Amino acid sequence: MSSEVKQKQLTTGEILRRKGGEKLVAVTAYDYTFAKIIDPLVDIVLVGDSLGMVIQGMPNTLSVTLDEMIYHSRAVSRAVQKAHLVVDMPFMSYQTSEAKALHNAGRLLQEGYAQSVKVEGGVAISRTVSRLVDIGIPVMGHVGLTPQSVHQFGGYKVQGKSPTSAEAIMMDALALEDAGAYSIVLEGIPTSLAKEISERVKIPTIGIGAGIHCDGQVLVNQDLLGMNPSFKPKFVKRYANLNQEISSAVESFAKEVRGGVFPSEEFSFGKIQKTSSPNPESKGQDAHP
Ligand code: KIV
Repeated sequence: MSSEVKQKQLTTGEILRRKGGEKLVAVTAYDYTFAKIIDPLVDIVLVGDSLGMVIQGMPNTLSVTLDEMIYHSRAVSRAVQKAHLVVDMPFMSYQTSEAKALHNAGRLLQEGYAQSVKVEGGVAISRTVSRLVDIGIPVMGHVGLTPQSVHQFGGYKVQGKSPTSAEAIMMDALALEDAGAYSIVLEGIPTSLAKEISERVKIPTIGIGAGIHCDGQVLVNQDLLGMNPSFKPKFVKRYANLNQEISSAVESFAKEVRGGVFPSEEFSFGKIQKTSSPNPESKGQDAHP
């Protein structure tokens, strides 16, 4: 970690006090440069295991490892000065035993410089959450359409539509609150259920595909910036079209390089020298055979 002491990052206590007040804004980040841009603008930076999909191109989050989460968290942590830094515990890093969960969460704080960890599930992991909180590791919960259970759900389907499923998600949220979680992500559930949960629990709820009544909202940065034209679920609003911006910037670069326009003298250390016309025989020759 840099020797710079960070004293102004948002704490879990400050997040708790935002319940029912100014909405919490959370965005994912996976690298230093992006985290530096968003840190002054958001309340919470989440190093999500969604990196399995948006960074690694995997079909889901299940293959992401703890070491990968630590790697990305370390990079992001160097940029985050103001926002709260929460990091996802990846699949199988907390479900098999409390001891393993404590050890792995500890690594995210110790090696990844996270301030808190996020875990998916409610009733089933509430004892683990309670133990984590007991030893001083703040926990953000995550219920509803929990992506680590994609195979259980048979796909990324909205949860909590039936009364039984809605009741189970409510129980999950209450169990997390009881266990000492400082906030809960509500993902992929009906607006009405998210409203009921948000009104019932005393800790902030942060929605993604859960409607307007949550205490805050989170989006994956690639989604809100419109990086992937083929991924546009209903809950994502694109605030930019970076896919088009990036494509046209790289297209211009390629055109200028191929046309011998870049780098002009403005971008060079010295005057452009006159050269003899290129040898047609060398055209297309590989530098590395
Ligand atoms: O992994 C992630 O990015 C998340 C958010 C979508 C909440 O869990």
